Amino acid sequence: MNPKRYLITAALPYANGPIHIGHLAGCYLPADIYVRYLRAQKRDVKFIGGSDEHGVPITIRAMKEGITPQQVVDKFHALIKESMEQMNISFDIYSRTSNATHHETASAFFKKMYDDGLFEEKETEQYFDEKTNTFLADRYIVGTCPVCANPNAYGDQCEKCGTSLSPEQLINPRSALSDAVPVKKKTKHWYFPLQQYEPWLKEWIVEGHKDWKNNVYGQCKSWLDNGLQSRAMTRDSNWGIKVPLPDAEGKVLYVWFDAPIGYISATKELTEHWADYWCNNDTKLVHFIGKDNIVFHCIIFPSMLKAHGGFVLPDNVPANEFLNIEGEKVSTSRNWAVWVHEYIKDFPGCEDVLRYVLCANAPETKDNDFTWKDFQDRNNSELVSIFGNFVNRTWVLMHKLCAGKVPKLHDDILDDTDKKLIEEIGNAKTTIENLLEEFKIREALFEVIDLARKGNKYMQEKEPWIIAKSTDDSGKPTSNAQKSIDNCMHLCLQLTANLAILIHPFLPGTAKKMLGMMKVVDKILDWENAGKIKLLSTGYSLREPQLLFRKIEDAEINVQVEKLKNGLIKQAVTNNTTKMEENKSSSTASTMKPLIQYDDFAKMDLKVGTIRSAEKVEKADKLLKLEVDLGFETRTIVSGIALHFEPTTIIGKQVIVVANLAPRKMRGIESNGMILMAENAAGKLIFVNPDEATENGSGVS
Ligand code: MF3
Ligand code: ZN
Repeated sequence: MNPKRYLITAALPYANGPIHIGHLAGCYLPADIYVRYLRAQKRDVKFIGGSDEHGVPITIRAMKEGITPQQVVDKFHALIKESMEQMNISFDIYSRTSNATHHETASAFFKKMYDDGLFEEKETEQYFDEKTNTFLADRYIVGTCPVCANPNAYGDQCEKCGTSLSPEQLINPRSALSDAVPVKKKTKHWYFPLQQYEPWLKEWIVEGHKDWKNNVYGQCKSWLDNGLQSRAMTRDSNWGIKVPLPDAEGKVLYVWFDAPIGYISATKELTEHWADYWCNNDTKLVHFIGKDNIVFHCIIFPSMLKAHGGFVLPDNVPANEFLNIEGEKVSTSRNWAVWVHEYIKDFPGCEDVLRYVLCANAPETKDNDFTWKDFQDRNNSELVSIFGNFVNRTWVLMHKLCAGKVPKLHDDILDDTDKKLIEEIGNAKTTIENLLEEFKIREALFEVIDLARKGNKYMQEKEPWIIAKSTDDSGKPTSNAQKSIDNCMHLCLQLTANLAILIHPFLPGTAKKMLGMMKVVDKILDWENAGKIKLLSTGYSLREPQLLFRKIEDAEINVQVEKLKNGLIKQAVTNNTTKMEENKSSSTASTMKPLIQYDDFAKMDLKVGTIRSAEKVEKADKLLKLEVDLGFETRTIVSGIALHFEPTTIIGKQVIVVANLAPRKMRGIESNGMILMAENAAGKLIFVNPDEATENGSGVS
């Protein structure tokens, strides 16, 4: 049974900069595809979005640019909203957290929790910048990294060597705002005792939501296994939602407390029936997010909802992994990103191409890579050569051989090839539907393309242009020839109509163009129409073909690759560091090891495994203790990757294990194998893993 209502949210982006393609691939695009599919199914759905306009980075940006935080968010809210619209992300509302409804809603939420005695009040010492009169979040304390001597390490992490740090570990700490030496100062805050919700969370997630994606479930389980702690839900700042208590001057709600409540506030703005969606168990609530948001959406926000009472909890949180660009992690500070508003300027009318490529490479189960070459290839050899080509050929031939009208289908001469195509159209609908219901958006898209590919194959087998050469005395095709042509073109036209319905959630602009060619209204896009071959009626006259996709030339993508590199060099010069560039050349010139024989290689037993748990090894900065599932057994492996990964983020990852490496003790733990890693130009380690999910224990050769 389908739920009565769907409430679909997509993470509220920080209004602190523009959005890049990683944001689209991570959550906005999959959410939009899912929502468009639900709407086509005529389900009752609301799609909620908006800008996240509080938090320290916004105040810092304002300070640096000499403007107010409100000016910062006004600028980026408008830019982000516009980018979303241009990319056809079909929010029912795109709101913002600086507006009045949200302030009232979040404030009341906090007040109720406070009145119910759900917070702990604690006084602690925190770093303070006396020059700018601000408390400093760890991120805003910089100093020299104790591990690699990078002079610009942050108080929470050194970006050069990846070590997690605390401000106390920095050598010569200074404020990122003013260079002042931070001092400690007492401050009072309200804490949410998450540990109290642990038993409930375990039951709800670990027992109750085994259906969640592996990466999401694994991360939650690991958080819960490691134990939760109280978290401050307020901050010292004058930008944000004021703590609604007397005696709380200069204190605001923690941005991760207020932002998710933004989903509720936005729904309130959208409809007076907001409570039907939020407070009724008939609702299926789904949060689309990127993996860095998992703990907030699966653990903290649900605990807040539970503690407050009266709200539905998320039914699913299909978080995606990250999208890298040209083999490297997106970095906005290094300008290693493809900005959506710039793409739209550089490739006008190609919004669907970007949607296509991002969906085809969606980082659903692992981090994935976007490259401009792949962008070009997918456009030219999939959209142009398969999908566009099929539709175009159908239209040209229909005008040439059937006078621009939908020809009749002659049931009496349907052959096996025709029947097979009809069956494939029916099957495609069901397959795509099942995949979308399970959030397997990438595979669903491939099914649509595959159906177009089958159309091309069908036409190639039928060759109506050859049949048309069997003419009678008047030079026209014989009546038998015309009947076969009619059948072929009839089915190709019905297939085109099906393709319009099936591609619509993914590429709405393309579907619209197809409707134009078919001279039909939007109504035809209802999902229930798919799978059938009765969409266009016989005798109906159709328009001229319209080009759905154009070829993308080498020159265009070369410009983009240059642009990326130039942005990087500019940054490198301003940061006075050219480490990236140096590393690149040294890796190409890296020395080779001496030749080995096949037998040497064959001695290694390489197997696919999945990381089930990961924890830091005490008193060893670099080591993680991993439990790796090899299908036939689970191994303990100690791996020197702790400087490169947060343990919780690698749970569920597939890896390649050297399974017959002699055991070795490290820090008292016996390690049984080794994990293959690659090193990128920035010196960061990356897992070597199978291209798609593979059974644990599978051999590698
Ligand atoms: N602004 C956050 C980010 O970009 C996401 C906030 S999601 C919300 O990571 F639920 F809190 F709104
Ligand atoms: Zn370092």
